[in-house]
Amino acid sequence: MSVKVAVVTGSNKGIGFSIVKGLCKRFDGIVYLTSRDDARGRAAVAQLNALGLSPHYHQLDVVDRASVLRFSDHIKEKYGGIDILVNNAAIANSAEWYNSYEENKNIVEINYKSILTIQELLFPLVRNGGRILNISSDCGHLSNIKNKYWIGRLSNKNLTLNDINEFVQWFLEKSKNGNLSKDDIADNATFAAYRVAKVAVSALTMLQQKELEGRNICVNSMHPGLVRTDMTLGAGFYSADEAAETPLYLVLEAPATLKGSYIWYDKKVLDWYDCNADYYFKTATLRK
Ligand SMILES: NC(=O)c1ccc[n+]([C@@H]2O[C@H](COP(=O)([O-])OP(=O)(O)OC[C@H]3O[C@@H](n4cnc5c(N)ncnc54)[C@H](OP(=O)(O)O)[C@@H]3O)[C@@H](O)[C@H]2O)c1
Repeated sequence: MSVKVAVVTGSNKGIGFSIVKGLCKRFDGIVYLTSRDDARGRAAVAQLNALGLSPHYHQLDVVDRASVLRFSDHIKEKYGGIDILVNNAAIANSAEWYNSYEENKNIVEINYKSILTIQELLFPLVRNGGRILNISSDCGHLSNIKNKYWIGRLSNKNLTLNDINEFVQWFLEKSKNGNLSKDDIADNATFAAYRVAKVAVSALTMLQQKELEGRNICVNSMHPGLVRTDMTLGAGFYSADEAAETPLYLVLEAPATLKGSYIWYDKKVLDWYDCNADYYFKTATLRK
């Protein structure tokens, strides 16, 4: 039988690092810590080595197609496939509640579009019966969107990739032209690009599940809670190790019937389509 392989993107620090740490302890196989920056990645591996853990390392910048291809070729050649894939890499401009067009574009590229590249280049390597987890956010629940037209299109059960891409494009055009209404997105459209990108990730998760259904692969998205990492400038209710517990549960222990779902940090499965729910991110929580 071939050796099992787990991969976590953006895992040189924060929640991704803690997921790798947990996988090294609990997964019966090889665990890949990956990072866009080689030195930061190798320093993170050294930290785990000091704890007696031995992740493998490979460079992986999720927005650099050549980097994703190199990683894909490496896995194909060495192990032939992936059993667990956690799409964790992301950015947020935590200090700024409203961002420039260039910043918004960058957030969308890293947090959403990169997952399309990974879907194209890494999903074919995910073995039948494997598990894929997209780390989303409370910003990824549909209740973050207040624009009625987009709520309607995104909650259509026959959603297509074109719908999601047009939604993202609509936002970027509004951002470029400076005419996004504060009523279109929850909480006065604060962190708008991050919310739009994460809503797109959670919507995409359901399409990915449909695509991989025949190969018995589970694809879910989840909100890890407000976690004390560099992303939140240290604000939050949970440590990265605590926040890694639900992702670890989802890729290691959850029943295979749990798929195509949006899951909260406490393992509760939420109704992603409930656009009037109170699950959207509130900037006020950062001050608590
Ligand atoms: N912290 C929270 O409260 C919270 C809440 C909801 C959702 N999340 C989600 O949880 C996940 C982890 O966040 P975190 O809080 O652990 O953030 P973090 O500490 O800032 O870590 C983010 C990781 O992503 C990496 N990354 C960024 N761009 C990348 C790229 N192009 N290619 C590869 N890696 C890249 C970063 O690498 P560098 O070190 O090179 O920058 C870093 O390793 C993200 O998906 C985030 O959106 C976090």
